[in-house]
Amino acid sequence: MLRIAVLVSGGGTNLQAVIDSIEAGRIKEAELACIISSNPEAFAIKRGIKHGIKTIVIDKKQYPAMSMRTKAIIAALQEQRTDLVVLAGYMSVLESELVHAYKGRIINIHPSLIPKFCGKGFYGQHVHKAVLAAGEKVSGATVHFVDEGVDTGPIIMQKQVPVLEGDTPEQLAERVLKVEHEILTDAINKVIGSFNNNKAE
Ligand code: GAR
Repeated sequence: MLRIAVLVSGGGTNLQAVIDSIEAGRIKEAELACIISSNPEAFAIKRGIKHGIKTIVIDKKQYPAMSMRTKAIIAALQEQRTDLVVLAGYMSVLESELVHAYKGRIINIHPSLIPKFCGKGFYGQHVHKAVLAAGEKVSGATVHFVDEGVDTGPIIMQKQVPVLEGDTPEQLAERVLKVEHEILTDAINKVIGSFNNNKAE
């Protein structure tokens, strides 16, 4: 069984999509090792508890220095025997120590068509506001591997959605979230498949 840790900061609808896909057998041969939240108030934590998943808060209050948070995250991931790390609405950039410790084994879901509307400052609703302000006709979601940059790692999967006349950021976000949930499951399956192929070689 491949063990997946999901890092969250907020509502956790992407986390829920992963939970549902594992429970429904759309993601096979995998289980949730733990949920790590940077925010003790995140609704994502409640989702995890409801499904009996180990939830861990690693936040600024307990660990004021970024380097301390990084060490705590690595320790938690190791303790939970994590094979794959999924950033699902995790609103903090990872330090290189963590990226190195799990090289090629961390993926992120981003609410735009990378390389558009990504990088520093582009997260959550900021992305959708910028897409609308630029008058784009399409937007979408991207799942990519995490490297040391911000949203710069190799792309695993993308899906487009239309931007409709008169869209509010909230309406666009909702449309994008729907495809995020789809491609996150598909991307996790793709990554698990490539891990299995590497093992077989
Ligand atoms: C999602 O749209 C996700 O792509 C985005 O935050 C939202 C979290 O929603 N992530 C980023 O912007 C990271 N750069 P969720 O908590 O309901 O999954």
